[in-house]
Amino acid sequence: MRTEVAIIGAGPAGLLLSHLLSLEGIDSVVLETRTREYVEARIRAGILESSTVELLDAVGLGDRLREEGDEHRGIYLRWPGERHHLDFVDLAGRSVWVYGQTEVTKDLGRAREEAGQEFYYGVSDTAVHDLTTDRPYVTFRSAEGEEVRLDADVIAGCDGSFGPSRGAVPDAVKRTWERTYPYSWLGILADVAPSTDELIYAWHPNGFALHSMRSETVSRLYLQVAPGEDIAEWPDDRIWDELAVRLGHGQDGWELTPGPITDKSVLPMRSYVMEPMRYGRLFLAGDAAHIVPPTGAKGLNLAVADVALLAPALTAMLRKNNTALADAYSDTALRRVWRCTHFSWWMTTMLHTSGDPFDARLQLSQLRWVAGSEAGATGLAENYAGLPIGM
Ligand code: APR
Ligand code: PHB
Repeated sequence: MRTEVAIIGAGPAGLLLSHLLSLEGIDSVVLETRTREYVEARIRAGILESSTVELLDAVGLGDRLREEGDEHRGIYLRWPGERHHLDFVDLAGRSVWVYGQTEVTKDLGRAREEAGQEFYYGVSDTAVHDLTTDRPYVTFRSAEGEEVRLDADVIAGCDGSFGPSRGAVPDAVKRTWERTYPYSWLGILADVAPSTDELIYAWHPNGFALHSMRSETVSRLYLQVAPGEDIAEWPDDRIWDELAVRLGHGQDGWELTPGPITDKSVLPMRSYVMEPMRYGRLFLAGDAAHIVPPTGAKGLNLAVADVALLAPALTAMLRKNNTALADAYSDTALRRVWRCTHFSWWMTTMLHTSGDPFDARLQLSQLRWVAGSEAGATGLAENYAGLPIGM
C-alpha cells in the first residue's frame, strides 16, 4: 500500500493530524493497535485551552464541543480555611472549556469516518523502516492477521508512550528527560451533579484533591495517594470522606455532594520529554514525545499544539518541497513542550504534599502569593488557559 503520511496511533494527536492534512488534500492512513470502541471509551482528562477550542472550531470540529462542553472563566484554589477564585478571562483574556478527551476523540473519529479516512484498527507488530531515506515505510499485521507494508513519504509517530516511534529514534541521536513524582492520583467518575461551578484545586496536609466534572450530571474527582496505591484500600465511602476533608466540605457554606462512583483508577504521575521530535522522515507528536503530570491539564492540549505545527510543516514539505517548517518543527514544538512541562511540574509541586513540613510552609506561601498577587495569578492564568499555538 502507499500513502503520503502514515500515521501511527488513533489518539487525539493522530486523528487530528489526519484531519488537518486532509483539509490540505494530503492523504494519510491511520494505524491503531486497539479497537475504535476501546480508543473512544478511554477515560482521560477534560480541559481544553482556548487555543485548542479555536483550532477545533476553525477546522469544523467545534459544534458539539460548543453545545455540550462548558466554558469556564477560571478555577478555585483552596487550602484549609482559604478559597480563592482565579478569573483567567480578567487576568489573561482567555477562558478554558470542560469537554472530555473521550468526546474530542469521538468527534474526530466521526469526522474522519465521514471523510472516508483509511483506518486500520486492531493492528499488531507495527514497525517503522528506512526513516533516513525519502521512502520510509511501516510494516504491521492487520486485525485479520495479514502482513502489510505501507509505503509513505513521511511517518507520523502519534503512538503515545508505549508505541514503536519513540524507540525508533537511535540512542545516539535522542536525549530524554524524566521525573517521576512520589505520589499518584486516585481518579473517580461519579453519577452526581458537580458540587462546584468551576474546578477546585485543593492543597491539604492529607494530600492534594481536585474537583472536576464531565457534565451537569457527571463529576470527575481526584485524590493524591501513594504511588501504586491498591485501589481495594479505597472503598467508595472512604473516597468521599477524604474528598470532603481535603476540599473543605462545610467551610464557608460549601458542601460536597457524594454519589454513585462508576469508575475508579490510580494514575501514575511523571514528566518525560524526548528530543528531537523528528528523526529523518519520522515526526513525533503528543505523548510519543512527551508526558506531563495531569495537574496542569496540558496533556491533550500539547498533543493538539504539536499537530497544529506539524500539519502545515508536512503540507509545505509535500506540496511545495519547502522543508523550512519541517526542519524547524522539533525546536518550535519543544519550546511549548518545555513551557508546559515546567507549568505542570510547578502546579504539581505546589499542590501535592511531600510530608516535609518545610515544603508545606513553602507551598502555602506560594499559594498565598499566587492567589493574592495579580502578577502571581496572571502567571498561572496565562499558562493554564494556554499560550497561543506556535508561540
Ligand atoms: N501501533 C499502532 N498504534 C499504537 C501502537 C502501535 N504499535 N502503540 C500505541 N498505539 C496507539 C495507542 O493505542 C493509542 O491509541 O497510539 C495511540 C496514542 O494515543 P494517546 O495515548 O491518546 O496519545 P496522543 O494522541 O499523543 O494524545 C495525548 O492522550 O494520554 C493522553 O494525557 C494524554 O491527553 C494526552 C493525550
Ligand atoms: C479532568 O477533568 O479529568 C482533569 C481536569 C484538570 C486536570 C486534570 C484532569 O488538571
